[in-house]
Amino acid sequence: KPKAEQTDFLHISDFDKATIVKILDRAAEVKALLKSGDRSFLPFKGKTMSMIFAKPSMRTRVSFETGFSLLGGHAIYLGPDDIQMGKREETRDAARVLCRYNDIIMARVFGHQDILDLAKYATVPVINGLTDYNHPCQIMADALTIIEHVGRLEGTKVVYVGDGNNIVHSWLLMASVIPFHFVCACPKGFEPDKETVEKARKAGISKIEITNDPKEVVQGADVVYSDVWASMGQKEEAAYRKQAFQGFQVDEFLMKLAGPKAYFMHCLPAERGVEVTEGVIEAPYSIVFPQAENRMHAQNAIMLHALGL
Ligand code: CP
Ligand code: NVA
Repeated sequence: KPKAEQTDFLHISDFDKATIVKILDRAAEVKALLKSGDRSFLPFKGKTMSMIFAKPSMRTRVSFETGFSLLGGHAIYLGPDDIQMGKREETRDAARVLCRYNDIIMARVFGHQDILDLAKYATVPVINGLTDYNHPCQIMADALTIIEHVGRLEGTKVVYVGDGNNIVHSWLLMASVIPFHFVCACPKGFEPDKETVEKARKAGISKIEITNDPKEVVQGADVVYSDVWASMGQKEEAAYRKQAFQGFQVDEFLMKLAGPKAYFMHCLPAERGVEVTEGVIEAPYSIVFPQAENRMHAQNAIMLHALGL
């Protein structure tokens, strides 16, 4: 198939609402099939995937590899030392080589330009498994999880507390496609990218709030969401960030302010006692493990869509 008939998955906002809803419906459908023990659906039979990791991972690696193989395909893990993108090999060369072996490429990289270059030079679909800028597969899995627990994403209130990072950018891009109320409460100086906020506001379908006080905005949340304060590539800033993020820990008091219907979500890995307390992440209202499981189901549907299957 020519590339035009296939689809990269780089940003949620590259798709219209009907397509995002279709992918989420497909995820639920294939999830039910796999959960029933049925192993007869093998759409990826005879297909191979390269998985490029410039950063560490547990969920992304295992969920992609497991999902692709459960549906009949074979995935190949390439760790930080294998390609050494930008050092041992230019990104555009890696793209043009790998697409001669594989039907699909999944990549986790530092600079966002790397994923754009992979997609530009590869003749097969490229899936974004996290960049410094965004993490679309995570937020697709989160949407699936919210639909399962709340009943819908549309019209819900999602309050993110912490760093205005890649997770926030993907939430903002989701809010430019599906209408809901998205709030990001972050310390001054740690706001999300201005252009991305603007894009979500301009789409005009969701209510978008960026604030510096979680206590003021958390009431009535369907979901309170947190992530690490120092992302991959920022670990040397961890001590400084711990100071700057005082007051942004999701604790029992904040969850009480949110109200009785609020679920707690976190993309994981989590640092207990830093961005979230042990009590909150272990509470009955915490859905972080169903959320992690849904990475695999959301991504299976994303890959099916990317490959036109
Ligand atoms: N949430 C997430 O992407 O986890 P990993 O970094 O373990 O892949
Ligand atoms: N913001 C985090 C997400 C990890 C899944 C990071 O980029 O490290």
